[in-house]
Amino acid sequence: MRDKQGEHIAATVETLTERAGLLGVDVRSLADPGTDEIAACLGGLEIRPEGATRATTPSGVPYAVWIPNRRTEHAVVFAPGSVANAGNVIEALCLTADDLLSVGDADQTMGEYCGYLSQSYENMAMVYRLVRSMGDISSANQIVDESLRNMIETLECAWVAAVFGDDAELLGELSRRVFTANDREPERSYEAESRDVLAKWGADDGPVVVTPENNEGLALVIQPIKLRSQVVGRLVMAGKNDEGGDVSSFDTQLLDAVAACISSLLETIKLYAEQTATFMGTLQALSSSLDAKDRYTRGHSERVSLLGGLIARAAGLDEETVQRYELAGTLHDIGKIGVPDRVLCKPGKLTDDEYGLIKRHPRIGYEILKPIPSVRDLLPGVLHHHERWDGRGYPDRLEGEEIHPMARALAIADTFDAMSSNRAYRSARSREEVLAEIEKCRGSQFDPDLAGVFLTIDLAPFDALLERHGSENVNEQDADESGLAA
Ligand SMILES: [Fe+2]
Repeated sequence: MRDKQGEHIAATVETLTERAGLLGVDVRSLADPGTDEIAACLGGLEIRPEGATRATTPSGVPYAVWIPNRRTEHAVVFAPGSVANAGNVIEALCLTADDLLSVGDADQTMGEYCGYLSQSYENMAMVYRLVRSMGDISSANQIVDESLRNMIETLECAWVAAVFGDDAELLGELSRRVFTANDREPERSYEAESRDVLAKWGADDGPVVVTPENNEGLALVIQPIKLRSQVVGRLVMAGKNDEGGDVSSFDTQLLDAVAACISSLLETIKLYAEQTATFMGTLQALSSSLDAKDRYTRGHSERVSLLGGLIARAAGLDEETVQRYELAGTLHDIGKIGVPDRVLCKPGKLTDDEYGLIKRHPRIGYEILKPIPSVRDLLPGVLHHHERWDGRGYPDRLEGEEIHPMARALAIADTFDAMSSNRAYRSARSREEVLAEIEKCRGSQFDPDLAGVFLTIDLAPFDALLERHGSENVNEQDADESGLAA
């Protein structure tokens, strides 16, 4: 824009000097284009700092000095040479100068406006990308990482960081994490730098802007990330790549928007976790209530859950997977909700039809849980916990390793608990008998390896649970009898 205005000025000077006989000086050509030089040209006359000055010298010679605007290096001095009607020419020249000045200012304003618009667009596009990426809340780490990469592209700064506190309950997987990003060395971490910055400047609850002059040439913006009115982390932007190294309102606004997006993400994750916990609690309560319909199966799911976890741990699975086996144990018989009580609680031997109804429960449980994303990994355990290693189980007659390991482990746990507890039609079998039966069925009913693992497990926690459930049964029986007496 400046160059365009400069071309106008140069053309005007040329026209006036060559065709109108005026003296035109483009002060770009002077060694020091200050007003003193221009004044020297005209014998010390006073000059306004901007715009066109029209006057006459003490000797009556009209002149004009035009400094197009304060943002340009150009200043032009016009004084008449020998031309006639110099006053009129100067007057016309000044009008032209004013017009050019207005056009130049308008151009400049438009240029600045376009710059702001472009920056705003980039900021909006970045926030848009960020919000879109939040559709998948399964990985908060990934979203924060992506946010920082977007920020580094948009902000033109040296590096950015997100530093989270140690509130594991609020932050989950983000707790104590530090994320950084920079343009020049993508693999380099600025964790130490971001911690230093926060130790020095990050104590406030509101945003902090540090100018380069106050921080050895490094501009900073620190934006708190809040969750439920509590500061749980901070975003840091360090250094600016533009000339002055100054932070603009675009930078602070963008950091504010990114912090708000991350807060919103954390809130969503938190709500989702709370909702899932409530939902899982409901399922567990439902499962327990199904067991409790019949005093002989009370606590069965809880014990199968315990045994499922013990087998998984003894088989060397990681703790997260152990917990999934436990949950699958809790829910494995949830499909019994679809079996009539008269069959479920029947004390005597079942008819073939009744047994057919019972055999539907793995499929019913599978159908109940199938639409729930948070338990999708448990479905094989629920659907196939009555399959047998030799392929004679139900519902799909799977064989050997076709059966998911979770289902194979639950099959052992389920059978062990059934044999170890009293049933309507028989008393609990002795520990020796039960273990001998498990050993005998290795390779026929049970996965031989997993059954071998099971036989190494310390069953003390199971016995403690069985005893607790037994005493709950006795207490309830006492309560029932005293209620009848009343
Ligand atoms: Fe079952």
